[in-house]
Amino acid sequence: MALERTFSILKPDVTRRNLTGAVNAAIEAAGLRIVAQKRVHMTRGQAETFYGVHRERPFFGELVEMMTAGPVVVQALEGENAIAKYREVMGATNPEKAAAGTIRKQFALSMGENSVHGSDAPETAAQEIAQWFAGNELVG
Ligand code: RTP
Ligand code: MG
Repeated sequence: MALERTFSILKPDVTRRNLTGAVNAAIEAAGLRIVAQKRVHMTRGQAETFYGVHRERPFFGELVEMMTAGPVVVQALEGENAIAKYREVMGATNPEKAAAGTIRKQFALSMGENSVHGSDAPETAAQEIAQWFAGNELVG
């Protein structure tokens, strides 16, 4: 399996509760390496662009409000099969359906405040990493 990179966000419910280190520990325990990371407060425009695929969904307004309510930590993660691996470690979107031991099972508050984002495919991973990091900010 080739070394792969995925894009991750620790959402505002994580920074608000001072859980950045706890979530990062779960990421590292799963064998993923944090090769870029910064804390940012997304503008409305950045959040709307980032989640543009959901623009027509009924929860879009709430999603943008939630993502801009406080700081987030954006990350690039590297590892074998990193995209699928991180989705597995994150758990289901709805924390009530997330498997035991996953980040969302442990930390998420609700379907909206579900603690983490992870890319869903190689194309989106590449796009999302490029939206948030310059090439020289990724150090593997
Ligand atoms: P993400 O994109 O954040 O990694 O999450 P995901 O793939 O598991 O879920 P997705 O369907 O892409 O939804 C994106 C984010 O929108 C919020 N959401 N709220 N209230 C709702 O019904 C609802 N559904 C989705 C969540 O924050 C979800 O992670
Ligand atoms: Mg998604």
